[in-house]
Amino acid sequence: MIVVTGATGNVGSALVDQLVAEGVPVRALTRDPARARFPEGAEVARLDPSEPASLAPLFTGATGLFLHLQAVGERGEHTAALLEAARAGGVRHVVVLSSAIIADGADETHPIHVVHAALEGAVREAGLDWTFLRPGAFATNSLQWAPQTRVGDTVRGPFGRYVGNPIHEADIAAVAVRSFLDEGHKGAVHRLSGPEPVSTEESILAIGRALGRELRFVEIPPEEVTPEMFPHVSAAVLPELLKSLGAFVGAEPEITTTVEAVTGRPARTFGEWARDHKDDFRAP
Ligand SMILES: NC(=O)c1ccc[n+]([C@@H]2O[C@H](COP(=O)([O-])OP(=O)(O)OC[C@H]3O[C@@H](n4cnc5c(N)ncnc54)[C@H](OP(=O)(O)O)[C@@H]3O)[C@@H](O)[C@H]2O)c1
Repeated sequence: MIVVTGATGNVGSALVDQLVAEGVPVRALTRDPARARFPEGAEVARLDPSEPASLAPLFTGATGLFLHLQAVGERGEHTAALLEAARAGGVRHVVVLSSAIIADGADETHPIHVVHAALEGAVREAGLDWTFLRPGAFATNSLQWAPQTRVGDTVRGPFGRYVGNPIHEADIAAVAVRSFLDEGHKGAVHRLSGPEPVSTEESILAIGRALGRELRFVEIPPEEVTPEMFPHVSAAVLPELLKSLGAFVGAEPEITTTVEAVTGRPARTFGEWARDHKDDFRAP
């Protein structure tokens, strides 16, 4: 039994689907089981890490835990209790959804670094086997443009020439599946990326192609960015993120072959991601 936190989210829902398809027993955790939709065969349970007494039953019969940052509280205040409950329930292997920001020479004071390093550190210290997934930018970040594509063909945003390495959430999930099921992933750090560099402007054109429309990107200065343009980033972290994106304009993104090495199939392209998500960019 694998317990999946963040199970209604981008990566977690793909992971639940893939584990169920593999015939692996899954317990999907969510704050709101009544609202969540999971495939038949997945167990569902309510996660409220602020109620330590509620944690033990979540891990009964479990051997693996997929650990998402959102599950441990804003300042990681629930990490220890969650890991202790997991261990007591029988969990031996934790696959952590971490971040590529953790790298040699990284700015360890960056808020995104701080929270992921703390999560990895707590898992290392818990005495359980672990695998750290360190993906770069999620392709799903491009959903940030959907409010604009739903109402027109012009997308306004910063850093058109910023080049990222967007990864499909299904590929992160696929690496997590193999990390749980195959030998050789305990103690491994998997740096994950999409298969090719994609600029902001190219990503918007690709979304247009998936929609069968010609989208136009209009670059705006970072000072004009509103939090609504970056809904996947907390308002507190947004200024730091914009600074990082600005600093990376002109830089080569890190492209890894880990998805293919671990799963045996090439990482999905951004164009594939855009086709999979085209309905998200259309008016309902
Ligand atoms: N975006 C990137 O480019 C990027 C890059 C590297 C690493 N990452 C890592 O990946 C994570 C995002 O993964 P994702 O896109 O799969 O997640 P997600 O879809 O944004 O969220 C996953 C689930 O977390 C729960 N959740 C959301 N906000 C919460 C809150 N304030 N408190 C408690 N639970 C909350 C929700 O589930 P319920 O409502 O069902 O409980 C949600 O479905 C980041 O936090 C980061 O750690 C992201």
